[in-house]
Amino acid sequence: MAVRKDSPLIVGLGDGENFLASDIPAILNHTRRTYILQDGEIAEITANTVKVYDMDGNPVAKEVYEVTWNAEEAEKGGYAHFMQKEIFEQPKALRDTLAGRLDAENLEVNLPEIEENLEFYKSLNRIFISACGTAYHAGLVGKYLLEKLVRIPVEVDVASEFRYRDPLIGRNDLLVVISQSGETADTLAALREAKKRGARVLAVTNVVGSSVSREADDVIYTWAGPEIAVASTKAYTTQLLVMYLFALYLGRVKGTIDEKFYKEMVSGLKEIPQKVQEVLDAEDKVIEFARKHLTKEDAFFIGRGLDFAVSLEGQLKLKEISYIHAEAYAAGELKHGTLALIVKDVPVIALATQEALFEKMLSNIKEVNAREATILGIAFAGKKEIAKVTDEQIYLPRVPELLAPILAVVPLQLLAYHMAVLRGNDVDKPRNLAKSVTVE
Ligand code: AGP
Repeated sequence: MAVRKDSPLIVGLGDGENFLASDIPAILNHTRRTYILQDGEIAEITANTVKVYDMDGNPVAKEVYEVTWNAEEAEKGGYAHFMQKEIFEQPKALRDTLAGRLDAENLEVNLPEIEENLEFYKSLNRIFISACGTAYHAGLVGKYLLEKLVRIPVEVDVASEFRYRDPLIGRNDLLVVISQSGETADTLAALREAKKRGARVLAVTNVVGSSVSREADDVIYTWAGPEIAVASTKAYTTQLLVMYLFALYLGRVKGTIDEKFYKEMVSGLKEIPQKVQEVLDAEDKVIEFARKHLTKEDAFFIGRGLDFAVSLEGQLKLKEISYIHAEAYAAGELKHGTLALIVKDVPVIALATQEALFEKMLSNIKEVNAREATILGIAFAGKKEIAKVTDEQIYLPRVPELLAPILAVVPLQLLAYHMAVLRGNDVDKPRNLAKSVTVE
């Protein structure tokens, strides 16, 4: 007898044998037919039968969920770590997430998941986003995109704060929850809090049949494939991709984007998987920087606007697997205190992809340069001025600058990965952390 309570529980349906596991990869070598138990469901399992009941003992007719990905995808496939594999799987994950949603011929975004309730989405005057960790950082990029392209206010909260702050969310509002696992307790609680207050919930998640996908009103899946490493990488970039698709789609239906810009953006999105591959090909530069700073115990990430949002993801990646104390700072904020920590040779990663803020970023970089920090600058190809004020540079292939976050995060993922490897850490299972935080 088994009962699902908060943490995921899967029943594997075999031939003359049945299985119980906390997640699909554990049983994938035996069967790909599964029941995904929901909270409070009871399973009575024998070698030949599986019966499911609700808490009142009523039989529940479960749909068989056929797992489409194979055991190899849940294995390392020749890479040293799952994290390395998942970083290099990003071009494929992005292509798979775009499939069916980007009409390359007519340069259109199609989101059938939204189309079904188009009147509600067209009437939206406010959006809330709530998530945890890396997914929260994807939500921050989502805020910039939605406010720029849809011209409505967007509030972003970490889910553990949203659920307790008596949020002013109601019937005509939308909460977007972002969650790779779809099982994060705080994110699930934020979803339930919003629904209790009458809001509609859109889930962006990577796991079909996850609690978040079942309890949300609408779901847009990221098709990143199983993400095993604790440090989230391909889930983040595919979450960003979904936020771009959503913002473009919504801006189009609400008439807040001009047609030329819309086509430019969609055309840029089409090229993104290949452009990410080009950034991955520049891995050696990152390894060189990692080697130089192997023994450092502090690191800073600075940026403005979208670059600040990506800096937050960069610091989390570095912190959680290399154990270096990393911090992200809005570059314009440095002089209000943190500059006191910028001393000789401290590594600073400066993101400068946004044209309108580029000159301001150069002056912020000069501030840390004057304190003899060692600076890695990340900018678009051609922005050579950044070489005058930084020690090392990584140049990103040109895309419409609003798409920069999907490319700019890749060197930061690689930096965290290589720092952790060089420091001999357990890259896929960093200390104190779990892949899916199913408890408060
Ligand atoms: C990210 O690298 C971390 N593993 C963690 O912050 C994670 O993003 C967070 O726990 C949210 O998980 P979810 O996307 O499965 O909800």
